[in-house]
Amino acid sequence: MRVEIEEAAILLNKGQVVAVPTETVYGLAASLACPETIKQIFSLKGRPSNNPLIIHLHHPDEIEPYVYTFPKGFKALSEALWPGPITLVMQVNETKVPSIVRAGLSTAAFRIPQHPLAIKLLEMTGPLVMPSANLSGKPSATRCTHVEQDFGSEFPVLDGGTCHMGLESTILIYLEERWSIIRQGALTPSAFEKILGYIPVVKGSENQQIPLCPGQLFRHYAPKAKLILSNECSTLEEKTILGFTDRIYSTTCRIVPLGALTNPSEIAKNLYRSLRFLDEELMKEVFVDVDFPNEGLLETVRERLTKAAAQ
Ligand code: TXA
Ligand code: MG
Repeated sequence: MRVEIEEAAILLNKGQVVAVPTETVYGLAASLACPETIKQIFSLKGRPSNNPLIIHLHHPDEIEPYVYTFPKGFKALSEALWPGPITLVMQVNETKVPSIVRAGLSTAAFRIPQHPLAIKLLEMTGPLVMPSANLSGKPSATRCTHVEQDFGSEFPVLDGGTCHMGLESTILIYLEERWSIIRQGALTPSAFEKILGYIPVVKGSENQQIPLCPGQLFRHYAPKAKLILSNECSTLEEKTILGFTDRIYSTTCRIVPLGALTNPSEIAKNLYRSLRFLDEELMKEVFVDVDFPNEGLLETVRERLTKAAAQ
């Protein structure tokens, strides 16, 4: 059910869950002031309770009450990139952020989104927690129809059109005097070089005793179709291929186009829509062309495809 912004604000302030557009993906929003509603988000998504949520705010100044000491570089990052697709994880005053939001960690994640409707809504509601608006493990939602596929046509959605970035925010945490990336996303590591004076390292959760980004451990972004990553899609016959419009494949293959390799932003924007399309078409087995350079946004696209293909 599509709702206007005024109704979305009323529902959220009353303690209901509403799907909200951001520039990255749609989020499933609940007021930070409503722990019962936040609980509902976990059950609606089928999300494990040890996977914390991002707190979305209207302005960086709103973060002050939650954080004791801001890490070096926070001001530079927030001034340069917010509103926008980065999320910053920081130590918080645990009495100020409900434990369910942090999944019991001593840190919380903060983001100021850029989508005009999200910004306006946050001004009307105050802080909202928002995981991506998809069933846990499934491809994220970049259109209203995707939210409706997962949560039903009666679910309240604020219609903000198609998310223009199509990949989730890049998440950074401050560790040992440096910011590190714990989830690759819509901003690539090089985007931070001028702001911080260094390129943040991308850290996987796998080798850490306590996972740096709990969500990265779970299966993600996966359609029902079996995905097979391949560097040799151009040689395949009579297969379905998730591929590129500027590459030649056999005419016996069915191609589901992600976009042109010369235009990585287009590929990013189409990624989840294309993964969802495989299920809409009831496809069983799909080859994914991963013969592309591991750089820039394409590195994030590869990371998502690899997770989506994991069994
Ligand atoms: O672009 C985005 O970030 C979207 C839009 C809606 O803002 N949100 C999003 O939320 O992707 P979600 O819940 O799907 O992913 C959030 C990730 C999870 O992997 C979670 O583990 C991690 O952020 N996270 C949240 N709080 C954290 C914390 N305190 N420490 C480490 N990781 C955290
Ligand atoms: Mg998600």
